[in-house]
Amino acid sequence: MAGTSDPLKGSPPSLLLGVTGSIAAYKSLDLIRRLTDEGISTRVVATRNARPFFPFLSAEIFSNSKVETELFSGGEGKGRIRHLDLLDGADLLLVAPATANFIARISLGMADDLLSAIALSARIPILLAPAMEEAMYLHPASTEHRKRLQDRGVREILPQEGPLASGRSGMGRMAPVDRILEAVREVLARAGSPGGPLSGRNVLVSSGPTYEPLDPVRFIGNRSSGLMGMAIVKAACTLGARVTLVSGPTALTPPPGVEFHRVETAREMGQALDRLFPETDILVMAAAVSDYRPIAPLSEKKKKDGREWTLTLSENSDILKGLSARRRPDQRLVGFAAESALEVEPLIRKCRAKGVDLLVANDISKPGIGFGSSDNEALFVFSDGRSLPVPRTSKETLAFRIFENLP
Ligand SMILES: Cc1cc2nc3c(=O)[nH]c(=O)nc-3n(C[C@H](O)[C@H](O)[C@H](O)COP(=O)(O)O)c2cc1C
Repeated sequence: MAGTSDPLKGSPPSLLLGVTGSIAAYKSLDLIRRLTDEGISTRVVATRNARPFFPFLSAEIFSNSKVETELFSGGEGKGRIRHLDLLDGADLLLVAPATANFIARISLGMADDLLSAIALSARIPILLAPAMEEAMYLHPASTEHRKRLQDRGVREILPQEGPLASGRSGMGRMAPVDRILEAVREVLARAGSPGGPLSGRNVLVSSGPTYEPLDPVRFIGNRSSGLMGMAIVKAACTLGARVTLVSGPTALTPPPGVEFHRVETAREMGQALDRLFPETDILVMAAAVSDYRPIAPLSEKKKKDGREWTLTLSENSDILKGLSARRRPDQRLVGFAAESALEVEPLIRKCRAKGVDLLVANDISKPGIGFGSSDNEALFVFSDGRSLPVPRTSKETLAFRIFENLP
């Protein structure tokens, strides 16, 4: 990021992570790492009973701040009111894992340690990820407390059935870190992340495949699942942007608050993007747009007639090139390139020819990444001639890397 046109100016979303005395607390370490990876600033508050379960030193290194436990701690002036001081500027309180004991205490409105005092004083969304043995989870007291909290707007990230710490199997295993992150993103997106680095920015994302009809039932398509585009949509929401998605046919639905345009063909996608582009600050073209379309789709379903069916295809126009030709200097453009080999020089030429600021190149010959998979690996190529390899990571993390590295 450099200069005054930096689109990521502003503060990142800020989260308070509460950790309580459950055996699942070791998973919170991975959670901190993933949250900070996604550009979400994370402060950790642990109960005293979390201490035997939770590696404080590692958590302090990952979160780059002290793990707070004490309600009556040092500080100057108003800084002495630690629970209010920590809430200042926070967008969300997430407690993961949340013990039966902690859930009961906040349901009763108790405030006898730092974390419960924060929960009682919070005017921000609260998310709880319960973790406990099945007997504790299903106990009528716990059920009542959770219900009462739900009625007050506290959201629970449901635990799962599976092996528990006791060696028994049952309900009460903390939700997987991916699911918790998903809930965090949803809440931050809904809150609009007013202080987010992209707040006030319009981000337009294209995603998914296109279908080019041969007749009313058949089409030429591709294997794009839309997962990468959706990860970009969610990252932009988390960073506080107003997000518009233009997507070809996929099974995915965008988070609430996203303006959604569903299209089928490359032409429809081009028309929608054309219309939306003038209002856009950042365009990310993650769709796998068909390069060709059948020249004369049939108006009725073609019946088998025992003969060969020869198709003639004509080339679709390059949507990204068309948009970049009329871009304003303040607009930022990101393109994707599916390649069978990642060579820097030809990719820099391609980046410049497409008129984009950043080209995200994937090696489609590598197994386990790209189309349909949850991971990706990329080479970022910039119009100024720089390049940056991004080793294999989740599509969510890659999405945040794109916004972080946008020139
Ligand atoms: C080995 C061990 C594991 C525990 N695991 C859990 C757990 O997963 N969930 C839970 O609700 N309580 C668990 N407990 C009980 C809590 O630690 C206990 O209720 C404690 O008072 C919670 O304090 P806190 O809510 O202030 O962190 C466990 C206790 C022990 C000794």
